[in-house]
Amino acid sequence: MNTWVFLHKYRIKYWKQFWLAAAFVTIETTCDLLQPTIVSKIIDIGVADRRPDYILSQGALMVLITALGALAASIRNVIASKVSQNFGSELRGDLYEKIQMLSFTNIDNLNRTSLVTRLTNDVNQVQLLVNSLMRISLKAPLLCIGSLIMAINLNPHLAVILIFIVPIILLLIVITIKVGFPRFAQVQTALDQVNAVMREYLSGIRVVKAFKQFEYEQEKFAAANQELQGKSVGAIRLMSVFSPSIALTVNLGIVMVLWLGGLGVNTGQIQVGHIIAFINYMSQILVSLMIVFLIFNNFVRAKASVIRIGEVFKQHNDAKWIINHFAFQPVNKGRIDFENVSFSYAGLGGPTVLRDINLTCLPGQTVGIIGATGAGKTSLVNLIPRFYEVTAGFVKVDGHDITEINPGQLRDKIALVPQQAVLFTGTIMDNIRWGKENATAQEVAAAAKLAAAHDFIISFPEGYNTKLGQGGVNLSGGQKQRLAIARALIRKPAILILDDCTSAIDIVTEEKIKQALNEYASQLTCLVVAQRISTVLDADKIAVMEGGTITACGTHTELLQTSNVYCEIVQSQRGRR
Ligand code: CTP
Ligand code: MG
Repeated sequence: MNTWVFLHKYRIKYWKQFWLAAAFVTIETTCDLLQPTIVSKIIDIGVADRRPDYILSQGALMVLITALGALAASIRNVIASKVSQNFGSELRGDLYEKIQMLSFTNIDNLNRTSLVTRLTNDVNQVQLLVNSLMRISLKAPLLCIGSLIMAINLNPHLAVILIFIVPIILLLIVITIKVGFPRFAQVQTALDQVNAVMREYLSGIRVVKAFKQFEYEQEKFAAANQELQGKSVGAIRLMSVFSPSIALTVNLGIVMVLWLGGLGVNTGQIQVGHIIAFINYMSQILVSLMIVFLIFNNFVRAKASVIRIGEVFKQHNDAKWIINHFAFQPVNKGRIDFENVSFSYAGLGGPTVLRDINLTCLPGQTVGIIGATGAGKTSLVNLIPRFYEVTAGFVKVDGHDITEINPGQLRDKIALVPQQAVLFTGTIMDNIRWGKENATAQEVAAAAKLAAAHDFIISFPEGYNTKLGQGGVNLSGGQKQRLAIARALIRKPAILILDDCTSAIDIVTEEKIKQALNEYASQLTCLVVAQRISTVLDADKIAVMEGGTITACGTHTELLQTSNVYCEIVQSQRGRR
């Protein structure tokens, strides 16, 4: 898909307003173009022939034309602002929606923090371009060409000078665009780089400080900054040659007009007013050319932004979202079957993360998954809510292939506590209510009690109304994990997935949660991922994972007999219970 295709929709929607604005710009420019001619008439007829009535009437005409021009300019501004604001907000909305629809694989590809810049800065740049397109960008070429025509029309003798001046200016513009375009693009890339370095530093500021890597980060920033400086200087140097050389050419033209005109006036061939008007038109040409250059700069920036926005729109959602999915009855059963499942983050042909997984979790059962770090535990459980697509085999919930179930309905039945607790800005109450929007305060407290979070929450002066900072920064690791568990439990899901979410909780508290969960979990299917044997000890079934496959499966006692790896894990953790 072409990067620019996403703009098509807005083009269809706004072309009428665009042309309306163009019409008003034309009126405005025409008014601007008429002024010098009227001035020349006032001088050549009114002043030369001493006719005050003529001066007055032409003066009144000038006022009228100026007023008309101002009116047209105001209307055009209103249209341009309205269209660009609407366009910007729609584009932002569409982009946001698109990001919501992206699969996890797409988001992995795009890098989360850059999505923020795309939504904000990039959309702004494009919006700015649209605004300037409807205002000065339309006016500049009209003014330039109009001035040329008016000048030739006014006095063909003087217009001979334009034959020399115009090609030189055109040549200058072509050269500058050829040389300048890549330079401005380089400035944009360098600016993006500075932003990227800054973003990474700010999001990892704690780690940077902890590892005393400030100097390293500073050097990285300095390098990016220097690059930006270098590129900017290059671009500005070009600008600093370009603007004066155009001005010089135009001014040379004006000198020639004065000289030729002076000779003409002496011989009586040319009138003084014509010379003044002619110089006026040449100045307008100069002004419009300068504007062209400004727009050009604008355009280069917006182009980079359009490409970055287009990249998001281009993301092909690889998940096969069938709109009319099989109507899934949310009966609280929650059987899970993995049938010969293989999976790779890179899709078919990528490095295999999971291979030939067969596992069944029956309703009411608790199944433990244990294995070394990197064994593929998280990858396995992330397949159940269909965060990623399997590369082979089937994942079934209640006997139905999950690709046939409406993802919304599927996820409604599942509560997942991720390995890294993610909390949001807001109160503790709000955060737990994420699991169930209309939960009462009692329900929230009940869930918090199950997750052994109630006690620490009420120990805060503001209790459940304690405000959490971004990502829950004002909580300990274990507190965060318990809130994340409460948020999942409040949903009363059919399937509960706990992905190593008690790793930061001490054994005593974990034991409390386990006890509380015992009864709760008897109603649903529970998958518990763990590193610690103690977490999964009482499970109905424990699957041992190694290098992306399940190498043994059974109860604790069975595994002690059958699995060497399991015995090794138990050995290594003995005494830690
Ligand atoms: N992986 C990947 N892309 C991701 C996430 C993981 O390529 N977005 C790879 C990892 O490099 C790892 C493998 O997938 O080799 C399994 O990762 P994971 O399922 O997260 O392992 P866990 O068993 O959950 O490890 P841990 O106990 O450390 O959480
Ligand atoms: Mg994991």
